[in-house]
Parts: sequence; C-alpha cells; structure tokens
Amino acid sequence: MSCQLANKEEIKQAFAQVHSVWPHDPDPAVHLQKRLSSVQHQRATWFVVKESGQVVCSLGAYPFQLFGPDGDRPARALGAVFTPAEHRGKGHAPRLIRWVCDYYAAQGTQDFILYSDIDPAYYQKLGFQSLPSYEWSWELPASVPQVDLTVFPARPLDPSLAGFRYGIRRQTEEARWVQEKQHSSLRLSRCLASGKWLLSRQDHGTYTLLESNLDQTAARWPELVRLVESDARQAQCHRVKGWWVSPEAEPAPELRDRIRPRSEEILMWASLRGDEDPWRADISRHGFRAHLSEHI
Ligand SMILES: CC(C)(COP(=O)(O)OP(=O)(O)OC[C@H]1O[C@@H](n2cnc3c(N)ncnc32)[C@H](O)[C@@H]1OP(=O)(O)O)[C@@H](O)C(=O)NCCC(=O)NCCS
Repeated sequence: MSCQLANKEEIKQAFAQVHSVWPHDPDPAVHLQKRLSSVQHQRATWFVVKESGQVVCSLGAYPFQLFGPDGDRPARALGAVFTPAEHRGKGHAPRLIRWVCDYYAAQGTQDFILYSDIDPAYYQKLGFQSLPSYEWSWELPASVPQVDLTVFPARPLDPSLAGFRYGIRRQTEEARWVQEKQHSSLRLSRCLASGKWLLSRQDHGTYTLLESNLDQTAARWPELVRLVESDARQAQCHRVKGWWVSPEAEPAPELRDRIRPRSEEILMWASLRGDEDPWRADISRHGFRAHLSEHI
C-alpha cells in the first residue's frame, strides 16, 4: 500500500469513485467528464492511496493564502476525502491526510484547513481543531421591504478584508474559480445608495449569499436582513441562507434563532507549529474570514 501524488489515470479512478457521494450528474460517465473538466477540481492537487493497483482512498489539496496580523502564510485546504465503501475502516483516510500534510510540510506549509461534513471528532484525532463557524437561514416573510437594487451581470468582486485580523486572502486569479464552481449563474446586486453589494446564487427557490461587502456585526444586522430579503424576493426566492462572516467572535444572543453553528461545512484548522502558534488563541475564539464562495 502506498500514498502518492495521483497521476492522470489515478485521478480518473478517484473522480469516478466519488459519484456515489458527490454526483455531478446521475450518469457516471457524464459525472466523470464534468469533474475532470471543472475549474474547481483542476485547482486542487490530487493524492491517492493505492493497494494492489487500485485507488482505495483519495483527496484534493487546494492552495490558499491565509492572512494574520503578522503576515501571510501558505496553506492547503483538504477536500473530497473519500474511501470507497468496501475499503473503509482500514485507516486509509487518516494515513493519506497525514502523508499529504507531511508532503506539504516538507515544502514549508504548516497550515491546513478543511470543511468537515462529518463529525469533527474524526478530524480532531488527526490534529485539526474546529473553529467557530456559523450559518444563517430563514424563510422569507410574506412582506419584505423593497430596496432599490441594480442587478449586474455577475462577476465575483474582491470582498473586503477590513476589520478581519485572520482570514483567507483572495487572489485575483481566483475570481474565475469562484464563479465557475457554482454550477449556476450568479447574481450581483448593488444598492447604489449605500454602495453595498451582494453576490448570490439561486437554487430551487433558495437564495444563497456567496459573498458581500455587507457588515455582519450585530449593529449592522438589520441592514443585511433588509438587503438580503429584498434581493431574494426580487430573485423570486422564498428562502435565504449564507455563512455568518463577521469580525465578532460570536453572534449576538438575540440573533441566535437565525445564526446557528454550522452542522456541515464546519471550518477546521491544523497548524504544525503546535501550541506555540501565536495565532492559536485568537483564531480559536474568532475563527477567520472565509466566504461561502471560497468553500472547496
Ligand atoms: C470518512 C471516510 C473518508 C473515512 O475513510 P476511511 O478510510 O474508512 O477512514 P477510517 O479507516 O479512519 O474510517 C473509519 C472511521 O471513520 C469514521 N466515519 C466514517 N464515516 C463517518 C461519518 N460520517 N462521521 C463520523 N465518522 C465517520 C468511522 O466511525 C470510523 O471511526 P473509528 O476509527 O473511530 O471507528 C469514509 O468513510 C468516506 O469516504 N465517507 C464518505 C465521504 C465523506 O463523507 N468524506 C468526508 C467529507 S468531510
């Protein structure tokens, strides 16, 4: 058994295998073509565990830059960790995660993130810690204030980093990735009066806010509600959702019915710098700025 950087054939095997959990199309052949050609998946470097010539586990590692008060750090985000059902329970995924972290550590990368869709305890055993990560969602009320919004052909903008001590630094070349991985057309609305903008996606009546320059602090929350509800109604949606992206450590108690800890896409971080990492105390309390558009 060996852990290794995947070649083209191994990437194909790995991509075909994930059809059962992350299908791009009901037809496995179409799924494979879509995954192979997707901008999202081409952005990652792929790794596999091989046993008797077969891929028995795989994951992708996406390049990111984290920022903090003392500068930037190269980081990798691990995604699409997958072991086919018949090979589970043999420790393949932990072995591969450790191997990939060692591989990048040898190149000077000491920070790793992932978004867990499973019990975070699984990744905690591998040295990842859960960071505070919240989402909001609600059904639109019957009556919604009408805000004058101008809708533009959508193109991701550069979401502001102001007020955030830690976060993912958006590189300009990532705009295409942000756009194309959504698999649906985006909507960019601007409130010309306030200069606020909202980049969103609409799926079957649900309006998902991907990123915005709206301030999500408790003091400015009513403005977010007003703009999001108005934009969603104009986009003919009945439900809104998004990630809570705020420099505040926790949602204010009176907003807890709408802003809740995430049960999926839970942000996790591992630093190979150990307990001495100067970021640890702050980042454990505040998490860092990551927009839903940057989710891998
Ligand atoms: C999660 C997964 C990658 C583990 O792969 P693996 O090679 O079997 O890894 P392991 O040998 O450590 O798996 C066994 C462990 O996984 C745990 N596990 C499997 N699915 C889990 C889930 N949904 N939630 C929490 N733990 C889970 C098992 O409880 C077991 O834990 P234990 O060792 O404490 O008994 C694999 O089950 C899988 O591919 N699942 C479907 C895709 C997925 O959900 N990927 C993770 C996305 S964040």
